[in-house]
Amino acid sequence: MYPLIRGRRTRASQPVRDMVREHQLQPADLIAPMFVMEGRAAKQLIPSMPGYFRYSPDLLIKEARSLFEKGIRSVLLFGMVPENKKDNKGTEAVNPNGLLPQTVKKLKEAIPELYVMTDVALDPFSSYGHDGIVEGGKIVNDPTVEVLAKMSVVHAKAGADMVAPSDMMDGRILKIRQALEEAGYPDTGIMAYSAKYASVFYGPFRDALDSAPGFGDKKTYQMDPGNVREAVREAQLDEDEGADIVMVKPGLPYLDVVRAVKESVQVPVSVYNVSGEYAMVKAADKEGWLDGQAVMMESLLACKRAGADLIASYFAPEAVELMG
Ligand code: PBG
Repeated sequence: MYPLIRGRRTRASQPVRDMVREHQLQPADLIAPMFVMEGRAAKQLIPSMPGYFRYSPDLLIKEARSLFEKGIRSVLLFGMVPENKKDNKGTEAVNPNGLLPQTVKKLKEAIPELYVMTDVALDPFSSYGHDGIVEGGKIVNDPTVEVLAKMSVVHAKAGADMVAPSDMMDGRILKIRQALEEAGYPDTGIMAYSAKYASVFYGPFRDALDSAPGFGDKKTYQMDPGNVREAVREAQLDEDEGADIVMVKPGLPYLDVVRAVKESVQVPVSVYNVSGEYAMVKAADKEGWLDGQAVMMESLLACKRAGADLIASYFAPEAVELMG
């Protein structure tokens, strides 16, 4: 009689395992972040992100085309801004002839079917390395939101399909939504970084864009890692303000937050498997301590199982190759 119930029956062979699998990863789940820098025919390895590069616009388009041909449907663009173009007002962030809008334009011309998302925040443009305008040592919310709304319109005009505000200022989703409507871009979407934590896992990204905060930290706007109910509240607010997708960031250490947010909003949920998560796997793989590729696939699947509909990840280019 014992045991009647044997879980191992549905694990006994590959076909049955394939049949009963609850969650699967597919190329359309992945968003590939890409870093653009000024120049021509140039690419630079980011030392703390092995295998990941910054590209000049021409090479970025080439790389994006190759990703698209492998099945990547969407990219998230970040611009690297030279020091002499940074200030405390986000001047370059709203320049329609700036690197990011110009790259978006060329990218959409070259590959119209590629879904292009753009980062909206001031840190790469800020002489202080903060996501907002600094006054008296503080990051001021409402004046920053004005600039973010303008920046979003500039990106929409350039052809971005979706803007992705990663700044964590209050009330910016509503202002961005209104600005897009007023400027005649009702179809441009918003992916809100709704629950973005003040995390040390962003270190390699700040190397990539040379965007580390010049003073203090980001704890007055990014969330406290101890909180989960606050994340749900932030995601609900962004949904109410008109976000089309809400995001949780980082990924693996915050999968409980992904689950909580997924259960409380109606819009799709994305997760950002961030630079530090990528760097850790690459480092362990290099040492021979882990099988990096297997860890990558397990990590991405774990994000989906936790409830993510979409995953922004530096693993996207490699993972899509393995998915064949
Ligand atoms: C900044 C921004 C950051 C990331 C995306 N947008 C870093 C930060 O907030 O300091 C991090 C991405 C990563 O680590 O992969 N607006």
